[in-house]
Amino acid sequence: MKRFLWIVVAGWLAISIGRLSVADESSGEYSADAFATCSACHLPDGAGVPGAFPPIRNRAATIAGLEGGRDYLITVVTYGLMGTIKVDGMQYFGVMAGNTGAMSADDIAAALNYVVFELNDADSSGIEPFAAEEVEKVQAGITQKSPAGAGQLRSELVSKHGDKWP
Ligand code: HEC
Repeated sequence: MKRFLWIVVAGWLAISIGRLSVADESSGEYSADAFATCSACHLPDGAGVPGAFPPIRNRAATIAGLEGGRDYLITVVTYGLMGTIKVDGMQYFGVMAGNTGAMSADDIAAALNYVVFELNDADSSGIEPFAAEEVEKVQAGITQKSPAGAGQLRSELVSKHGDKWP
């Protein structure tokens, strides 16, 4: 009986430790809650679906580091994105709907922080976290409040940054 108990305890320990180490990989500083609405298309790991939903894993963090990139990310999550885009040699001509009304400035900052800090395999320590104040400030300055407007902004940034754009 005593022996049986030990086996149960050892089994429970192994399962718990296993769970802990699995959780460790993704449970960093930022919660995935605000990203839940995004993961339906971009997938929980941000890898996307080739030809349908572009990958944002690793790429969003790179975009955030380019001039105008943070504003672009905020614009896309707020007003959506439309227009043919090319990522890793693959074309996408989908439409991402905006989230005005559905996501607060806090939610948008939280979703972007999850993408930039948790869905990034490189070092994100040089990136400033997104905050609601920045989101609101950028939103107030956006003149073309539409998916197509964000598409226009993306084309401008791609020509400006060339090979640096992921
Ligand atoms: C219904 C599906 C869907 C949902 C939900 C969705 N997206 Fe998108 N997303 C897309 C599509 C499709 C595109 C590309 C649009 C195009 O082809 O112009 C895109 C593009 C993007 C881009 C731009 C990538 C680039 O290369 O410029 C970012 C960043 C992004 N999404 C982040 C998010 C975040 C963050 C969320 C959650 C708040 C989200 N998306 C929710 C479908 C979706």
